[in-house]
Amino acid sequence: MQESLISRFNGLSVEHALKLAVELFEGKICFATSLGAEDQVLLHIIDSLKLPIRIFTLDTGRLFYETYELLEKNRLRYKTPIEIFFPDYREVESMVNEKGINLFYDSIENRKFCCRIRKTLPLKRALEGMEIWITGLRREQASTRMGAQHLEWDLLNGLYKLNPLIDWTTDQVWSYMKQNGVPYNRLHDQGFPSIGCQPCTRAVLPGEDIRAGRWWWENPETRECGLHTK
Ligand code: ADX
Ligand code: SF4
Repeated sequence: MQESLISRFNGLSVEHALKLAVELFEGKICFATSLGAEDQVLLHIIDSLKLPIRIFTLDTGRLFYETYELLEKNRLRYKTPIEIFFPDYREVESMVNEKGINLFYDSIENRKFCCRIRKTLPLKRALEGMEIWITGLRREQASTRMGAQHLEWDLLNGLYKLNPLIDWTTDQVWSYMKQNGVPYNRLHDQGFPSIGCQPCTRAVLPGEDIRAGRWWWENPETRECGLHTK
């Protein structure tokens, strides 16, 4: 882990951080979008600056209809294509046949298993050959993310991880979106600040935590799907 490299990214604007990452890792740099508000900001910037960054999303097969709508909107609006990765159908079939289609409600173990089959294993495939991946993580999102850095070494996947919006507030995200006419998931207007899979996401009440609607039946400390586990 090179401390000098990490310090080069500290304090950079999003645009500068992305440009520096492209300079250092051209051809081996990708951005994972969940199509959430933060990811829409990053997509807009990457596309506007025509940065040579591969963009992909993990379609778990259990996403909201509104998320697919946005995926299609992006396809019409932006030049940069978004590659779609699916889970391995054999693993999904054996999981749901053995444990049930909605296994995630039965135990944390089952929930993590489903996230592994539908998200973290496909992520590994999407990251093959890459040296750095970009995410829309923000510290403000969760207690589990408070220690996240601008540039980190992702031990689990063996490559760098750049979080250009790490210091952004929710207000900053939304004013950028509004000022630039960035398309967004219409569930955000219906009380969904953070959107994942449909069976594992619900709306939050005003004043509730941003991620209170994700895996709401679990404790806040376990509410990560494994994409960003340390
Ligand atoms: S999660 O781990 O709880 O699902 P969250 O929805 O907050 O993550 O998203 C954080 C970041 O993880 C996103 O900005 C994106 O970079 C990445 N991410 C999450 N879900 C996906 C997905 N389905 N496809 C691609 N990237 C994703
Ligand atoms: Fe499965 Fe829910 Fe995880 Fe989606 S969020 S992969 S449905 S457990």
